[in-house]
Amino acid sequence: MSTLAHEAPFAEPAPAVASPIPLCVPEIRGNEWAYIKECLDTNWVSSVGEYVDRFERALASATGAQYAVATSSGTSALHTALMVAGVEADDEVLVSTLTFIAPVNAIRYVGAWPVFIDAEPDYWQMDSAVVARFLETKCERRGNALYDRATDRRVRALLPVHVMGHPVDMAPLLDLARRYDLIVIEDATESLGARYRGTPVGHMGDVACFSFNGNKLITTGGGGALVTDDPDRAARALYLATQAKDDPLEYVHHAIGFNYRMPSLNAALGCSQLERIEKHLAAKRRIVARYAHGLGEVPGLTLMPKAPWAEPAFWLYTIRVDPKRYGRSSRELMRLLAGERIQTRPIFQPMHESKAHAGVQALGGEVASRIVTEALSLPSSVGLTEEDQDRVIATIREFGP
Ligand SMILES: Cc1ncc(COP(=O)(O)O)c(C=O)c1O
Repeated sequence: MSTLAHEAPFAEPAPAVASPIPLCVPEIRGNEWAYIKECLDTNWVSSVGEYVDRFERALASATGAQYAVATSSGTSALHTALMVAGVEADDEVLVSTLTFIAPVNAIRYVGAWPVFIDAEPDYWQMDSAVVARFLETKCERRGNALYDRATDRRVRALLPVHVMGHPVDMAPLLDLARRYDLIVIEDATESLGARYRGTPVGHMGDVACFSFNGNKLITTGGGGALVTDDPDRAARALYLATQAKDDPLEYVHHAIGFNYRMPSLNAALGCSQLERIEKHLAAKRRIVARYAHGLGEVPGLTLMPKAPWAEPAFWLYTIRVDPKRYGRSSRELMRLLAGERIQTRPIFQPMHESKAHAGVQALGGEVASRIVTEALSLPSSVGLTEEDQDRVIATIREFGP
């Protein structure tokens, strides 16, 4: 029998189905296999080993920081950062409302309270004017500390989130932090490799955090890190992230610690990825230029903003869709693109709208809400081919006016 029963002998060839284009996937092209094999060959697969140290040294050097402590995730890095920075239960921490939920959850893990700060409309980052107004008009000094008059809580820290790979305008925030004695914790999880006025993101506050989950600029599979120039904070972070062992032989602990260290296997992956960070950043810049060229003239679409003082890392290339002029909302466009096997994604629900943090004090939020309604992140993998990107661009143009 030459023809299988389920095949029609003279059927038309099936139309070619376009291969899916994912939003943002890892790029494994360097020494990953070799380094991981070495871990397996030598049995150093857990949280101690050469690769964890190597990854920490390489990350410190990439960010300009003195110390790096590798952790199991960006979220655990944020939790640890808040603890070592000196944020305590019932303190208030001013945090961007336009963020993934992790830093806000971490504030609650230490028993502190977030205060949500609206985004500025130009670059979508924490609005320092809102912070200044709050500190100047709603807070008062008592002794060495600053208190929120309405809640009677100590205002302890600023936690700006460098959203979508673009730096926050840090100068006014750092100025306010100095003036009011506030700690600055940067959430740089989405922005490794970005620079603010020439300074690497993650090297401007007291402590900064990164994430290396699968969709980030470089990945360790899952993982994170905190970086700091302060030796005491770095040592405390290492201690707390390693179960607070005071005598590792007799298992004596003087504090409640956490199992937050990055395993060696993940660090091996990270070492290889960090070797290629400049290539990854260059690929992102090429992607940005191609989207700008292909979508710049489409009515109703606004390209991702870039401040003159910023060298963004362009984690996820994100446009705004004005439904009146483009003819469709961002969510409608997302669904249509999904039908063409092109994965896109809205940015996160702003925190002042999150039920998980209902009742938390919010200073504004309208700007962030509007950005979120209109925003759509487009395929941005380091390995995105020009062909695939051209298909994304052509499809968005076809669905437009
Ligand atoms: C702004 C922000 N903070 C924190 C995190 C948490 O990182 P992780 O997923 O590694 O815990 C992420 C990302 O995933 C993030 O986007």
